[in-house]
Amino acid sequence: MINITLNESVRKKNIQRCREKGILLPTFAQMKNPEAIPGEIKEKLKETGLWDVDPVNLFRITWQNEPKEKGGVYGDVNFIEIPKSISGVDARIIALVGKWFPTGAHKVGATYGCLAPALISGNFNSTEQKAVWPSTGNYCRGGAYNSELLGCDSIAILPEEMSQERFEWLSRIAGEVIATPGCESNVKEIFDKCHELNGERGDDIVIFNQFDEFGNYLWHYEITGSAIESVCKKLGIKSVNGYVSSTGSGGTIAAGDYLKTLFPNLKIGAAEALQCPTLLRNGFGGHRIEGIGDKHVPWIHNVKNTDMIIAVDDEDCISLMRLFNEKEGISFLERVGMDRDFAANLPLMGISGIGNLIASIKMAKYYEMDGDDVIFTICTDSMEMYDSRMKEYREKQGAFTAEDARAVYARSVEGQKIDSMKELNYYDRLAVHNLKYYTWVEQQGKDVKDLNSQWYDKSYWKDIPEMADKIDKLIEEFNREVISG
Ligand SMILES: Cc1ncc(COP(=O)(O)O)c(C=O)c1O
Repeated sequence: MINITLNESVRKKNIQRCREKGILLPTFAQMKNPEAIPGEIKEKLKETGLWDVDPVNLFRITWQNEPKEKGGVYGDVNFIEIPKSISGVDARIIALVGKWFPTGAHKVGATYGCLAPALISGNFNSTEQKAVWPSTGNYCRGGAYNSELLGCDSIAILPEEMSQERFEWLSRIAGEVIATPGCESNVKEIFDKCHELNGERGDDIVIFNQFDEFGNYLWHYEITGSAIESVCKKLGIKSVNGYVSSTGSGGTIAAGDYLKTLFPNLKIGAAEALQCPTLLRNGFGGHRIEGIGDKHVPWIHNVKNTDMIIAVDDEDCISLMRLFNEKEGISFLERVGMDRDFAANLPLMGISGIGNLIASIKMAKYYEMDGDDVIFTICTDSMEMYDSRMKEYREKQGAFTAEDARAVYARSVEGQKIDSMKELNYYDRLAVHNLKYYTWVEQQGKDVKDLNSQWYDKSYWKDIPEMADKIDKLIEEFNREVISG
């Protein structure tokens, strides 16, 4: 599922390239536990900015970066616990924070999970081929960034309606930026562009398709999953009841598979936009939760392990974005009990992070959770990525007043109900799984046998995590040859 069959001649070229550029690669074990990273790398990080295009930043592909713009080394996993004054529910809602990855989003990890195995095995030739990163935004930012660190050319593909911040940054980092028609949910157009590129440029490119690359699944299973485990240890949490993740490529939700091995009763909730309810209703449509919901079921989404679908109204996300980031909104939250110090954490939630918070509130209400119950969720990126969206809504909706704050809180926090959700039974899950047929077999040419294996073969999903150790051995060997050459 992850091709690590060695192509020795290309592998040697990649080693030579890394030697020339002084590039070493982190292992999965190091991303999980950065304490194991050698001292000289930590020293170098003390002089390096979080987003600097410097290969040492490959060692910042971890949830445990010190939350600093420059010079940070490692600390605890970055997370926030959402106070009850904001969630309105007794259940504890804890969110990992993606802002402190290079590029400001954890997607840089998913791209590394896809690129590293190809690089160390020689299935991607960094000296001659371009890495293509099809995405709705943060994945191609991460991919272009990692490509640049590794000194290889990249092509970023994303829909034209994604935020201005993403395009501006990409134009500086990616070799080529291709904007495809439409918005967030127009992934078919991205796939079409990939086929076109394949036809035109063939062997000159390698497409790292996050929607079907198991390196993406593996990275989240191993790294995001164990980051949550380590937060549990830090906070003394013995049992986790829910894991909520919106699905874009279906990578982040894989951490839930890991958590189920620790907490077998945990419920995994897949969140999507109500305006594009593909999992809930085989639906379609445009929406404003950037990064998620792409009118198909990603190949790497382990539907068999998904317990609940939660559709979130994008209007609630936008309203809460303003509540959390406008002066009057913050004053209102303080009046209803939010600790003044917590205000600094509010911008750590980007739009999809807010969507995950809403989905977590809905899950807590659905299962009537109380103060002993714990839900984990994810803030993929932060408001750093949405200044232009805030500006847009200020212009469109006008100033955000105390009255607006009260109304938004009543509607989008207290007003969350258990509507637009579905707890999945065996055949509901099978129905979602079967939707993969149309995208992946009919449209993208995968073998129906593989589709059936995902459902019927008991070892299919269990075999993937075993790849981490094998990849680590190859990374270690690769690094040894880079150094010793
Ligand atoms: C902002 C944002 N949120 C959520 C997601 C969804 O994460 P995943 O692709 O791992 O399902 C993405 C994916 O690109 C994203 O950019």
